[in-house]
Amino acid sequence: MPRLSSRPGNIRASPIRRIAALLDAARRKSDIISFGGGAPSIPPPKEVIDYIVTLLREKTQKTVGYGSTRGLPELRSRIAEDLEKWWGVDYDPEKEIMITTGGTEGIYLALTTVLDFNEEVIILDPTYLGYSEAIKLSGGRVRTIPVSVEEGYQPDVEDLKEVVSPLTKAFILLSPDNPTGRIIDEGFVKGLVDLAVDYDFWIIYDAVYKHITFDKKNPWIDSYPGAKERTITINSFSKEASMPGFRLGYITGPPEAIEAMERIKQYVSLAPDTVGQYALIKFYDDGIKDRYLREVVIPTYRKRRDLMYELVKEYLPEAKTVLPEGAFYFFIDMRYYLEAMGRSDEEFSNRLLYRKSVVVIPGSYFGNRGVGHIRMTFVSEPEERIREGMKRIGAYVSSYIL
Ligand SMILES: Cc1ncc(COP(=O)(O)O)c(C=O)c1O
Repeated sequence: MPRLSSRPGNIRASPIRRIAALLDAARRKSDIISFGGGAPSIPPPKEVIDYIVTLLREKTQKTVGYGSTRGLPELRSRIAEDLEKWWGVDYDPEKEIMITTGGTEGIYLALTTVLDFNEEVIILDPTYLGYSEAIKLSGGRVRTIPVSVEEGYQPDVEDLKEVVSPLTKAFILLSPDNPTGRIIDEGFVKGLVDLAVDYDFWIIYDAVYKHITFDKKNPWIDSYPGAKERTITINSFSKEASMPGFRLGYITGPPEAIEAMERIKQYVSLAPDTVGQYALIKFYDDGIKDRYLREVVIPTYRKRRDLMYELVKEYLPEAKTVLPEGAFYFFIDMRYYLEAMGRSDEEFSNRLLYRKSVVVIPGSYFGNRGVGHIRMTFVSEPEERIREGMKRIGAYVSSYIL
């Protein structure tokens, strides 16, 4: 075989994707409880599914045909209306919004569009593991600033000031956060925007969990003076619409940036999935989206979150965590237990799966500061299985610690 390029060799394979593949295989053999990947287990709104089934039957050619690279204009207009309604922000659906193949493509397009070789992108440690490798793939370099459970996982503007330099090209802000569930403090957002203006860098605002919030609203960064002309927001229908398989999301940004990202998208995926876009047009119509979030998504996840919180306190009383304000993950400092057990977070997670058939994600996958932690999602299993899974974790830990 001829030599491969060095590009794929320089990035690591996603460990969460590997766990997802293992899980598919293992599920066929035993009763596995997954607190692993953040895949919604509730179905999307029934009206949306009924609509798309009918449309596929009655207008087949239109529904399965190619669309434009930027996405269907009817969907982009609905997104603009929705953002105006929820956050009072004004986007031109023609020029400032593009539909993407999930948030994942949005992140890739944003990074390849803003980065030149060796320019730096600042991310948090720990953070979503989709960023560092995409930064490297785009020729950039990763810099990090720390966050900790003691500070409620809020980053500090002073830490950011220490890392920012003329090489800084972008900062990735994620709120609500994966893996920690925190919603960003407005004070940090203000400090970040001021620095971004002073040093002239981009803010990539990953808002894929923007609607999954329990106690307070997630801030929308473009509302801050000076932010809009230097921000690309990343959005997804995987979480808020429970439709990850459609692989759809959208980005917002200044017209020149959208145009540049469109040029790259033409050669990466040509156009977003048309069937899914029609489904999403329906999602925005007749108040379906807001009703679905209000009556199904948020109450279901809130109950699961509260239950998991109680069970973490009951079965892992020495672990440290915070009640997630948004998204659907607990990030748990397990160092007390891991030290007593003589195991790393990865060994713990592997053994837990092997011995008790429960999946959790090792915290070290999210960065150096995640070492000694685990991430557990409450989105994939119903309440009785959350109870059962936590009981199994409790039994596993106490078999070592008496
Ligand atoms: C923070 C964050 N950003 C982006 C994504 C990508 O989502 P998708 O490509 O399914 O839209 C995920 C998925 O879990 C995520 O957690």
